[in-house]
Amino acid sequence: MKITRTGTPPEPRLPSSLRLGELPDVLLGHAEALVERLLARAPTYETVGWEKALDDLAARFGNVAEVLEEPALLEVEERTRRLLADIRHEDPYVPHWAADSVMARCCYLACRLIEPEVVVETGVAYGVSSAFILKALEENRRGTLYSVDLPPLRREADRSWGVTVPDELRRRWRLHWGSSARILPRLLREIPMVDLFVHDSLHTHRNMRREFDTVWPRLRNGGLLLADDVERNHAFGQLRQKDPALWRVIEDREESPLHGKAAPVVFGIAMK
Ligand SMILES: C[S@@+](CC[C@H](N)C(=O)[O-])C[C@H]1O[C@@H](n2cnc3c(N)ncnc32)[C@H](O)[C@@H]1O
Repeated sequence: MKITRTGTPPEPRLPSSLRLGELPDVLLGHAEALVERLLARAPTYETVGWEKALDDLAARFGNVAEVLEEPALLEVEERTRRLLADIRHEDPYVPHWAADSVMARCCYLACRLIEPEVVVETGVAYGVSSAFILKALEENRRGTLYSVDLPPLRREADRSWGVTVPDELRRRWRLHWGSSARILPRLLREIPMVDLFVHDSLHTHRNMRREFDTVWPRLRNGGLLLADDVERNHAFGQLRQKDPALWRVIEDREESPLHGKAAPVVFGIAMK
């Protein structure tokens, strides 16, 4: 099947061959990930299944089951599945980089439940989480997604970057290129309080802890923080020291994956 390119990023971006200034941060990220893989010990978290997490969210927000039946959610799932299948043969990214189907649904659900004005995410790659967030913002008819991404310095990656976000969803999207360590502090000074933060960038303890510490003071009370792959290090557990109103690690298995075979999923959700 032919690749259906869905448009160009709304913010100009140089090709990877000209973004050599990003090389130190990319290399630092690789080194950090390698060292932590060798030295760090994984945490043991008490986890809940997706259904139980939905009960917890329903107790706070109601409305959960209705949101998960929305045609807009089914539409973004279907389109994402098709677009990821289209790029499968020339995919330069590690395939499991795309948000899994449960995390993606949780992004949509969170946006529909709290109707955010300001959403910040780190880690774009294919744009799966971005597409689910932007679809929900369109349904809400309000809100802006600020995404921070340090893409790999490979020409092929330029082609797949953001491929699952169609043009019609891009008007609420603001992109910031570079490492979250550099971009987040400045961005958070420039935008209003954050309603929803989604971490899906570099999953090292150092980076996750830094992102959480930077965002938490700028997250409004009642705001939500979602983080993928929290089982890799202690950063999400350390968030409990900030007394979140809700803190859950969700561990489950996909039923309807967006790509490939159904896989185990682990991610965290915290409410301030
Ligand atoms: C797991 S992928 C994101 C997947 C995406 N959320 C999706 O659903 O398709 C991680 C992304 O974070 C980027 N990244 C890596 N290190 C980063 C950093 N220090 N700051 C910001 N982005 C980073 C990677 O290049 C990649 O695009």
